[in-house]
Amino acid sequence: MVVLAAPDPVHLDLAPSFAATSAWPSVLIRLRLETRSEHEAVEQVLDLMGVLTRDTYRQRLVQFYGFYSPLEAALQTRCAKQSDSHSLEVSQLQKLLPRLHKSLLLRQDLHHLGVSTEGLAQCRALPQIQTHAEVLGCLYVLEGATLGGRMITEHIQATLGITPTTGGSFFDGYAGQTGRMWNAMRQTLLSGAVDAQAENAMVASAIATFTCMRGWCESASFRKNSVTVHALNSHPFHMTKNHAKAEPGA
Ligand code: HEM
Repeated sequence: MVVLAAPDPVHLDLAPSFAATSAWPSVLIRLRLETRSEHEAVEQVLDLMGVLTRDTYRQRLVQFYGFYSPLEAALQTRCAKQSDSHSLEVSQLQKLLPRLHKSLLLRQDLHHLGVSTEGLAQCRALPQIQTHAEVLGCLYVLEGATLGGRMITEHIQATLGITPTTGGSFFDGYAGQTGRMWNAMRQTLLSGAVDAQAENAMVASAIATFTCMRGWCESASFRKNSVTVHALNSHPFHMTKNHAKAEPGA
């Protein structure tokens, strides 16, 4: 499914302050257009809008957890870091900290569906998040995923009967606050694009984040070696993963 077509003002759903200006917020358009093929590729690999079984859904959550958990931990460390650099950047990154809770939602969903997160494989090939712009580019991807999450929430409810309180909290994201949170994120992205260098770094980081995620989701560890995941309840189930190690090269 192609979800990111033309950068028309209506689809971009710009906050009124930007819609009223004559200059388009180029970094937002660039982020959308320049990551479009990666977004489509990730969508295809995950195939969450097709025919889903509960096992496939659990497996997807395991994949997301293996990526989000180490990445959020790294982002938390980076965003909490005090530095001698620009104090505005430091406070901007600290304000992003409350957004870094998605692996907790994933853990909660997995527990609800009977999967222990202990010992699950974790991605080691994470995007670089040293600079302020790199952090923002990475957050663009993680926060943008909450938009598609709205569709996925409806789909898993309709096909599997899974609701935000019964294993679907990750895709429900910010629930009714998703639009407001996304608008605030876009403002942060715009204010971080202070010059061409920052803008380029942000876009490159967003692409790298998508690429790392796709690499992780495509990784052999999820396609080979069907093993039994030790479930929390009395109904262990099988899924395709590798407990022993993360993706080679990861
Ligand atoms: C797997 C199934 C997915 C579907 C069906 C999907 C669907 C969508 C849809 C419909 C939108 C546009 C929402 C709107 O404009 O209101 C969107 C936006 C977005 N999605 Fe996804 N998505 C999926 C996965 C992901 C993943 C895994 C990520 C990243 C981890 C992601 C990142 C983004 C980003 C960054 C945007 C914002 C694009 C922009 O407006 O700049 N998506 N997605």
